[in-house]
Amino acid sequence: MTAIRPLVAGNWKMNGLHASLAELDAMRARALAAPPACDLAICPPATLISAAAAILAPAIAVGGQDCSELPPGAHTGDLAAQQLRDAGATFVILGHSERRADHRETDALVLAKARAASAAGLAPIVCVGETRAEREAGRALAVVGAQVAASLAADLDAATLVVAYEPVWAIGTGLTPTVADVAQMHVHIRAGLVEIFGAKGAGVRILYGGSVKPQNARELLGAAEVGGALVGGASLKAADFMAIAAAYS
Ligand code: 13P
Repeated sequence: MTAIRPLVAGNWKMNGLHASLAELDAMRARALAAPPACDLAICPPATLISAAAAILAPAIAVGGQDCSELPPGAHTGDLAAQQLRDAGATFVILGHSERRADHRETDALVLAKARAASAAGLAPIVCVGETRAEREAGRALAVVGAQVAASLAADLDAATLVVAYEPVWAIGTGLTPTVADVAQMHVHIRAGLVEIFGAKGAGVRILYGGSVKPQNARELLGAAEVGGALVGGASLKAADFMAIAAAYS
């Protein structure tokens, strides 16, 4: 089987003004000058998607950070998947732990959003991950396995789907799991994907996210079944983001 091309994606969260677009210019320049052996994507806030797409194409893809599960209509403040696609996005992060916590998003809602994203031609990046309490209770594998089983379904397009394993306790903390723990979880997620999608589950990219930095990227991304990274804080600076991507060179 041909190896899966990795994906390094940046999640800007609720950060970024038009002044930040200079970082995207720098990313594009670096991506063209020294292309890493991976796909690249930046998920800026929705206010910057159009501008980001204009700057980054075709070297770096653009993604949203959430979308509605509903078609366009009377839903003030929400964004339809189709609108993200229209703005230039080709990916959308769904079910990030911050949205699961801040907006009480359930696995069922994340699945509905993934279906809406796929239907609009967006590749969903579906996030899963355990809390510190769940890991300490020895429940990390069970919790993440249940999230995978309930946030995904066989009718999604496995060819475009991306899954991101982001332990909640590793996000923005500087803490990371051991390489062995990352590998164990990614192998577990792979088994869950094969259960849902059959042979096609073997080709789904599984990203690791949570305090990925230039200093630890090579080690974390070298773990079994890790098909790239979902980077938060370090994706705000072109130098850091591209140094992480350079782990694939
Ligand atoms: P940090 O890289 O800032 O820990 O954030 C990870 C994350 O939540 C990406 O979605």
